[in-house]
Amino acid sequence: MPNIRLDKLIASQLNISRKEARLAIRKGRVSVNGEVVKNPEFSAEPEKDTLLFDGQAVCYKKYIYIVMNKPAGVLSASSDKSRETVVDLVPENLRRKGLFPVGRLDKDTTGLLVITDDGDFAHRVLSPQKSIFKTYKALLDGDITEETLDIFSREITLADGTVCRRAYLKKLDTRTAEIKICEGRYHQIKRMLGVAGLGVNSLERRAIGGYFLPDYLKEGECIEVSLSELGPIFNLKTV
Ligand code: URA
Repeated sequence: MPNIRLDKLIASQLNISRKEARLAIRKGRVSVNGEVVKNPEFSAEPEKDTLLFDGQAVCYKKYIYIVMNKPAGVLSASSDKSRETVVDLVPENLRRKGLFPVGRLDKDTTGLLVITDDGDFAHRVLSPQKSIFKTYKALLDGDITEETLDIFSREITLADGTVCRRAYLKKLDTRTAEIKICEGRYHQIKRMLGVAGLGVNSLERRAIGGYFLPDYLKEGECIEVSLSELGPIFNLKTV
């Protein structure tokens, strides 16, 4: 891990501006390995140095991983001019520059969403080569019939001619299905179900790979997790 200027390090870890960080450093609010450092250009070793801000430990994290139970009505985006986004819902203590959702859920879809500032991680999750299955629970506006199961037993061609990779539908009850897909096409599940003549009343993402939405996380709530806690995402690539 290369050295980082102290003002940049403090700004990134405390989610404050570089200007605010410089000011705080000059005021003597920051110490490195027990010594107050007033030079914002001081070269810090983030993974080795012990940093204190106002006497409180600043635990260096290169990246942050947040698991959200996305509520309906919120955009899966980092920012928007007028509409509320999932990043707007991240509590202040977890906020950082560069946060973005890993993949998109429709505005009306609820459930598991990972928000991070780690681009490589997002790339690994979203890469089509990885074929990571995402599991959804869909409440439908009609009954799941033999024909529905038959349509989902092979590749589905959407109305615009797009051929989707094999998806899996399990009937949970007459109008409730668990659906697994390994792609992330626009409105994919809704469009697949459309081929079967079914509309979606509500859609919730329950899992990405082998990582499941924690039961205790209410809609709109977030938790910070470690990268290793998200490991199961990559452990279950097939159904
Ligand atoms: N498929 C959809 O149709 N919508 C989502 O939000 C996710 C998958």
